[in-house]
Amino acid sequence: MQLDVYLTPRALADDTLKGKIVVVVDVLRACSTTVTTLANGARAVVPVDDMGEAGRIAAAIGPETSLLGGERNGRPIDGYGVGNSPLEYTPELVAGKTIVLNTTNGTGAFVAARGAARAVAGCFLNVSRVVDFLRAKLPVNGDVPHGALVCAGQNGRVAREDVLCAGMILHRLWGGAIPDGLDDGAHIALAQYRQEQKRLARAVFGCTHAQHLIALGYADDVAYCAQPDALPFLPRYEDSRLTLNADDRARAAEALPPVATEPEAPLSETASEAARA
Ligand code: MLT
Repeated sequence: MQLDVYLTPRALADDTLKGKIVVVVDVLRACSTTVTTLANGARAVVPVDDMGEAGRIAAAIGPETSLLGGERNGRPIDGYGVGNSPLEYTPELVAGKTIVLNTTNGTGAFVAARGAARAVAGCFLNVSRVVDFLRAKLPVNGDVPHGALVCAGQNGRVAREDVLCAGMILHRLWGGAIPDGLDDGAHIALAQYRQEQKRLARAVFGCTHAQHLIALGYADDVAYCAQPDALPFLPRYEDSRLTLNADDRARAAEALPPVATEPEAPLSETASEAARA
């Protein structure tokens, strides 16, 4: 099995991901938002990284059935219907709509994955579904097709929360073993996860972008995005859009999205207690 980890998309050339099995990892917050909005009934998410393109696509879909969402440096974009807080993508807001999602880093990583054989959105919320996907698509023996975990990072820099998530994916995929022939990115991701796995919420809260989001008032987003397997749905990236398959859509429609109920205490308090434990 050949599964490389790109700690940021910076190293990706136009054809790097061509024909590969790809997981785009953006914990804070593009992939977490994508899983949440699709679980809450959105028809699709169209990731774009260009302001003009985002507006053109939304206009072509039409105002009744599209919603422009996204952020720049964590703050909502003026004129958009919603920012990039997953907690804002409620069933009432998104049901049946196509979300045109324009973010600083994560959506650009999907654009880079357009030539992939298969590509999905990965984060802590759906980590086991990502592991199952890789186990199904990558051969244990032999090395084609290659796999790639692409960490979205932050403004071209490494985002430790994405590396931790990539490390968790690899740790679960290989049952704690370290296969021969790993690239440096995979070694780094596994080492980081092994070092911080027992205090994951605390580790995520301490990440640079998490601290930035907390300063902007999004502590609950950080707590929410740090919950492994809270939303076991797998967004697939095909024809430049992210959707759930029919089984996931049916399960999502039956489930009460965790964000639909008022938590006993704000997630940030709950997670902060967990982080201090
Ligand atoms: C990103 O794409 O970089 C993230 O979504 C940024 C954010 O939401 O704060």
